[in-house]
Amino acid sequence: MSCPFHTQPDPFREARERDGVLVNNFQGNEVPMVLRHSEVRAAAKDWQTLSSDAPMRVPIPSEEEVRTVRQLPLEVDPPAQSDYREIAEPFFARAKLPEVIASMETLVAELLDDALTRDVVEIVREFAIPLQSRALAILTNLPDAEARIWIGWGTHVFREGDGTSKGAALETYINQLLDDGMRVPSDSFFSALTRATFQGRPLTREEMMGFCSIMFAGGRDTVINSVSGVIAHLGVAPADFAWLREDQRRIVNASEEFFRVISPVTHLARVATTEIRMPGKHVHPGDLVALCFASANYDANVFDCPEETRLDRKPNPHVAFGFGPHLCLGAAHARLVVRTLLKGLCERVRGIEIIEAREKLEKETSYQRSLAYDRLHVRLLAKG
Ligand code: HEM
Repeated sequence: MSCPFHTQPDPFREARERDGVLVNNFQGNEVPMVLRHSEVRAAAKDWQTLSSDAPMRVPIPSEEEVRTVRQLPLEVDPPAQSDYREIAEPFFARAKLPEVIASMETLVAELLDDALTRDVVEIVREFAIPLQSRALAILTNLPDAEARIWIGWGTHVFREGDGTSKGAALETYINQLLDDGMRVPSDSFFSALTRATFQGRPLTREEMMGFCSIMFAGGRDTVINSVSGVIAHLGVAPADFAWLREDQRRIVNASEEFFRVISPVTHLARVATTEIRMPGKHVHPGDLVALCFASANYDANVFDCPEETRLDRKPNPHVAFGFGPHLCLGAAHARLVVRTLLKGLCERVRGIEIIEAREKLEKETSYQRSLAYDRLHVRLLAKG
């Protein structure tokens, strides 16, 4: 079923079916957004024409005002990108270790038990942010206590709710973590970076910061929005919740469908290296082109009834985590968080009553998209 709180499930359908491109004005620039599944995939692989070598400009809106370092390996092209990726991969692979899976289960159980003692829980602040922050401490191999600082950051690490920058404070904090990691060598991600080498030489401090920047930013609102989106859906679709409780082996497919439907990253940009004629826009070298993952995930040529949440959907070739060389490094971690959450809910909760939901809207000049919640008040009902 579709979620009744989502007032704009697919704002891209008309343009996707018309000619596959929607031009939107982002920060004063007319940026064509590629909308079709096949074309988003092709564009994501064609780094020679659509390059990620664009520091601070891959995210939309651009982050030139809020950070000074190039995020790695996001904002660089192959072949250097794959060498950078190798440095971070062992940490992202931790999401598959039995002890990491066990720590995540303990964390989810603790947070759910706490939520069940309360009459009403505000899921974004009181559940999703602590879960994401503490899960990141597990992934980066830092003590849980460090996550207390991260919980205070809110949904976004770079911008306050009113848009003002808090990027400088984040970079100061990252520098401190790296200094500590260098002074007292440990198995944390931050300490490991200070010993890592790239093509036979030590990383520069700027490169280390680039890895840390995306570690804190890339998986923050994405995971928080996934968590609130999952909980809201199970609240409005109790039959889906009962179906999952009936057989927990259904959780893996269900998680993929949640990532598809929620599509936490609407789009990311590339910089054209050559002239490209696109419907509605003649692209010149240096211009931005956006890959719209949220649109591709609702392409009816690939997904039957794309606006419906079908937890048994299979196959599910969604591109919520991107495609091609930059395929999300944090996907295993995000999957672990969502699957463990679903398992914990199935084991501990018999129902979710939605008390109040304030939808988050991405308002742009040419489209408006629902993206999870600013606030979600629910009552969790304990299993007997
Ligand atoms: C539901 C959660 C998430 C979603 C939907 C998501 C989405 C994406 C997407 C679409 C890309 C592709 C970027 C591109 O093509 O330019 C990406 C890359 C990346 N993500 Fe995620 N992400 C999620 C969680 C995370 C987490 C938890 C982390 C880290 C803790 C993370 C770290 C990264 C990194 C490092 C890359 C760059 C990979 C590369 O350039 O080789 N992501 N993510």
